[in-house]
Amino acid sequence: MATVAAKQKRQKSRVLVEKLGAALGAEISNVDLSQSVASADMTAIQKAFVDHGLLIFRNQDLSQDEYISFGRQFGELTVHPFATSLPDHPELIVLDNDGDNPPLSTDQWHSDEMFRDEPPAATIIRSTITPPIGGDTLLASMTAAYEGLNPALQDFYANLEAVNDFKVFRALYQGTYEGRKKLVEMEELFPNMAHPVVRVHPVSKKRLIYVSPQTTKYIRGVRDFESEQILQMLYQLPEVPEYQYRVRWEPNMIIIWDNRSTQHYAPRDYLPHRRRMERLTVRGDKPFGIKKKMKSTSVKMNIRGTDKAEKTGSHRKNLARPATTMTKKK
Ligand SMILES: [Fe+2]
Repeated sequence: MATVAAKQKRQKSRVLVEKLGAALGAEISNVDLSQSVASADMTAIQKAFVDHGLLIFRNQDLSQDEYISFGRQFGELTVHPFATSLPDHPELIVLDNDGDNPPLSTDQWHSDEMFRDEPPAATIIRSTITPPIGGDTLLASMTAAYEGLNPALQDFYANLEAVNDFKVFRALYQGTYEGRKKLVEMEELFPNMAHPVVRVHPVSKKRLIYVSPQTTKYIRGVRDFESEQILQMLYQLPEVPEYQYRVRWEPNMIIIWDNRSTQHYAPRDYLPHRRRMERLTVRGDKPFGIKKKMKSTSVKMNIRGTDKAEKTGSHRKNLARPATTMTKKK
């Protein structure tokens, strides 16, 4: 029978973690993701994932099935409601772009699927075709963005909630009657969702800024011009170089980012060359903040998101949905 010391030795992780960026990013080596990752190694990878926000694995030549199996080790995989995926693998999104098929608004800072009630915890991407130049992915630590703020601003933002919409994907339904009908269906499935502007990470308990120009429509409980000014200030935070790390892709690279604590931006500077990536998305939980939402003092000043239903972009009078589906669920 093995002694306790022998068991502990066997269970020690072999993975190596090398910090890459000041605010986020670490390289993980000494692990083969084509095999089932040992439990101690997976624990070390999960810890590094939360600690560093972004993990990079190089030289991982996996089959598609092996890649999906690795993703499942990281958590339950979800299906994107708008992106094209493979018929036999709906959880796998193929991002295959070139000059004839440019990407849809990836060159905007965002965290994936913030329009959901429970946005993903992690996004996993692997490179299958890399362009000769360009096509990097930039990431920013929104924890560092929060921690870099003056405490008075931290406190101010902590009282706010932002309403999010799948606005970038509305373009998929334009132009036809069938498309508009489908859009109304998608609005029923994915109503506007309020999330705290300052989110608390469910594992690290660190605070982070949680709005994005790709999904956020407005701040609740303030006037439109106030909302716009607040959001413009917040949208500049991921643009600060000190909060960023830039991934230069190589063939057979896999990266995983913490979709709660980071945002990302994919420049279109590689076009017209081809860039092909495969994405997996790991289920997350409902964002929570620090304080109670701010209450409005007036409904006479056209303040949205207080006690009235919030309208989505293609809202129609005859298709109005009950207010309860459009406000944040508690
Ligand atoms: Fe994204």
